[in-house]
Amino acid sequence: SDRNDLDGKQIVITAGPTREAVDPVRYFTNYSSGKMGFALAEQAAKRGADVTLIAGPVSLPTPENVKRIDVVTADDMFQAVIKAADLADVVIKAAAVADYRPAQVATEKMKKSDDAMAIEMERTKDILWTLGQMKTNQILVGFAAESERLDEYAKKKLEKKNLDLICANNIKAEGAGFNKDTNVMTLMRRDGERVELPLQSKHEAANRILDEVKRLDVNHT
Ligand code: PMT
Repeated sequence: SDRNDLDGKQIVITAGPTREAVDPVRYFTNYSSGKMGFALAEQAAKRGADVTLIAGPVSLPTPENVKRIDVVTADDMFQAVIKAADLADVVIKAAAVADYRPAQVATEKMKKSDDAMAIEMERTKDILWTLGQMKTNQILVGFAAESERLDEYAKKKLEKKNLDLICANNIKAEGAGFNKDTNVMTLMRRDGERVELPLQSKHEAANRILDEVKRLDVNHT
């Protein structure tokens, strides 16, 4: 891909997990490392885009020429993304956002007893779905990490969230998914076109995703 093909594009990228507190010492999260989203941010900046990276709690250095905003919870990420998306040409949601959070956050450390315990969970807001409702001329790219029925579930998300492209990873495939340096993905477009990506580094995969974004953008204008 030629080096400055995303020159002047405003791209918002999310990465990493979110963290939902139970009490002052405990939280719910997932295995996302942020590597996929950070690779996208680094490659998009190298290709000339103006990149805002909204990151959950991860331990990765900020790529060069990338504006980074750190967030903790799904709700923080919601606020940051909605604000940043206002001026964005493209939003790419590689983050693994919590779907549920504890309905109550204890202000003091919860004490154990000999009994079993249950924590009531409530839904978080779906950031991508909200963006899908708001969008006019924006390119919206989602991810789906599935352990079964990848095609069917990814396609459902593409439609329900009003996306232009979904990057479906089969987290059971060798070398794919959470916390790996590589990924195996199928990119599925709204018009039904598909691109199967082989096992490759997250940086190579990021460039293939950006190639598709570029193609969608050309068709847009
Ligand atoms: O970070 P790494 O270790 O490199 O791993 C990368 C990854 C596997 C986390 C990444 O490639 C990936 O697949 N991310 C999406 C994980 C997922 O399963 O998402 P989901 O099916 O819960 O959500 C689908 C899409 O909606 C995602 O783009 C997600 O960012 C978005 N979403 C979900 C919930 C929510 N409340 N708001 C959202 O915007």
